[in-house]
Amino acid sequence: MSRPFYVTTPIYYVNAMPHLGHAYTTIAADVACRFNGMQKKETFFLTGTDEHGDKIVRAAKKENLSPRTYVDKMSGLFRNLWPELNIKYDYFIRTTDLAHIAVVKQILQKIYDSGDIYFSEYEGLYCFGCERFFVERELVDGKCPDHGAAPEIIKESNYFFKMSRYQDWLIDHIKNNPDFIRPERYRNEVLAFLREPLEDLCISRPKKRIEWGITLPFDKNYVTYVWFDALINYISALGFPDGDLFKKFWPVAQHIVAKDILKPHGIYWPIILKAAGIPLYKHLNVHGYWNINQSKMSKSIGNVVQPLQLKDSYGLDAFRYFLMRDTVFGLDSDFSEEALAQRINTDLANDLGNLFSRVLAMVHKYFSGIVPEIDSVVEEELQPGLKSDAMNTIAEFEKTMRAFAFHKALVAIWEFISKMNKYVDITAPWVLAKKKSSKKQLEVVIYNLLEGLRIISGLIYPIMPDTAAKMQKHLGMDPEKPFYDLDLLKTWKGMEPGTKLPKLITLFPRVDLEKEKPYSPENVDLKATFSEIKPEITFEEFSKIDLRVATIVHAEVIPRAKKVLKLEVDMGEKRTIVAGISASYSPEDLIGKQVVIVANLKPAKLMGILSKGMLVAAVDDNGCSVATVDRKVKPGTPLK
Ligand code: ME8
Ligand code: MG
Repeated sequence: MSRPFYVTTPIYYVNAMPHLGHAYTTIAADVACRFNGMQKKETFFLTGTDEHGDKIVRAAKKENLSPRTYVDKMSGLFRNLWPELNIKYDYFIRTTDLAHIAVVKQILQKIYDSGDIYFSEYEGLYCFGCERFFVERELVDGKCPDHGAAPEIIKESNYFFKMSRYQDWLIDHIKNNPDFIRPERYRNEVLAFLREPLEDLCISRPKKRIEWGITLPFDKNYVTYVWFDALINYISALGFPDGDLFKKFWPVAQHIVAKDILKPHGIYWPIILKAAGIPLYKHLNVHGYWNINQSKMSKSIGNVVQPLQLKDSYGLDAFRYFLMRDTVFGLDSDFSEEALAQRINTDLANDLGNLFSRVLAMVHKYFSGIVPEIDSVVEEELQPGLKSDAMNTIAEFEKTMRAFAFHKALVAIWEFISKMNKYVDITAPWVLAKKKSSKKQLEVVIYNLLEGLRIISGLIYPIMPDTAAKMQKHLGMDPEKPFYDLDLLKTWKGMEPGTKLPKLITLFPRVDLEKEKPYSPENVDLKATFSEIKPEITFEEFSKIDLRVATIVHAEVIPRAKKVLKLEVDMGEKRTIVAGISASYSPEDLIGKQVVIVANLKPAKLMGILSKGMLVAAVDDNGCSVATVDRKVKPGTPLK
């Protein structure tokens, strides 16, 4: 058995719903884990949620829930989302788990006993959003760079962790282990940070200010700082200190995070481990941000894209492919739906999809759908380039996947796909098929192409597991055999001559963005998967929304748009509104109904119709229910 593989994602804060950024990290971990599975390694994939701290208490309050009820609900959203994205984690940790809490206390006590934690009075600038103290030089125009708010001066007694003691040791460790933090730019960033003297870390919060946390084992009046609690999840989940999982997987641990949390992972975490006498993790893999129009996709800004909507509109594998292909691991990427559609049409529908149907169509046409037998003499005569191309592709795939350079692995696979397409053009099977004398050549060409497809189906498995399985099914491969096993991929001639292949299918339908935009903020999809908790607004902000009662005077189905109805409403004046409610209402149900509309919403063209205003409806698993008034009122009456 080769070395095991252990990968983690950050444990996400439960103060908002998961978005594309979280999905990206978690899919990257899934891809890495599946890739290691291809090498028959034992793998362990950890994800979970970070549930303590002031942020969470405030978010719970907004929802009028107790922190406990709130975190249960929100953690469930993350846990349930991942299987929808075909993410196969092994364990989902929550920082409110009792076993985790016990480990955090144990480690705090150990570090306290060893003398690295001290008690002291401190006055400093505290950002409540970040839940930490800032030093002057970290602020931008006197404000927290993440929250844009001026921190408050707080004076209180707290416990501090002597990080400064470990500064030189950490610098040495990073210098001696060039792969400890990767890609290199982030390693350099941490080293640059360590050029300044490291401040000791305040690791407690007085309970009189915040109670929702883990009580310090040596002082019941304090809870521990969320980061001290959160980082320890990576070992508590493995049953630290004695669990078998810990013994097996911790020595090979790899974390994946985005650059926002580089400092806690690149500095606090190694020092906590060192101070507690625990060996360090192997690699910290740091990626960039998914941006929208150059600004970070973030729950606090609210410019988020929901992964499930993209999955519904474009298909899961296309979405996973796009995330891995359109970003260089480590750098930022700008999300756009156009780029996603483009990838689907060129890479998936054209390059891979066409190759697949082209080859299979020939097997059906020339060999009645049966994998041909091949003659090794003829095989030698024909230029054997495809085999060596395939082997080089596998080697490049292994090398780049190991280094988390997913886009490079995909580029290598797609270069091979393009070579396959050229092989078809050069060997021209349709010409060979015309002459009886070239039957043997035709068999070799088709067999090689099938073999190439088999290898492609295995290589795309970590990124597009469903498509990989679909391909191998249509290549007539034994579903019991792990077709993605790297050793099996390396054997040329894995296809069984004589196998009958099933009927043709289309792997990826093309996307026509012009015809119907499947996902965009303007094209409102009423099937909201989660109910978003929105930030507070003032009365003044609320009163900007012009809600009115309108009477529906006419309703009709729009032929090529299944989800929406075109409504004519009377609200003092006549208006046309397009509403995505046709799954729940037929036009007749609606005529004469008084409904609530947002009258001053910027008009938007939906399905080619200018919609002036928006209908308000409640949406749950059973569909939607339009908001209406309790007694008939004059059309146009405002809601206040
Ligand atoms: O920081 N682009 O949780 P968090 C790419 N609880 N990745 C993004 C992203 C974006 N626009 N937005 C979020 C926390 N992410 C702590 C972690 S770990 C011991 C504690 C992803 O909910 C990315 O992985 O703010 C980032 O590091 C993480 O979500 C932050 O999640
Ligand atoms: Mg964050």
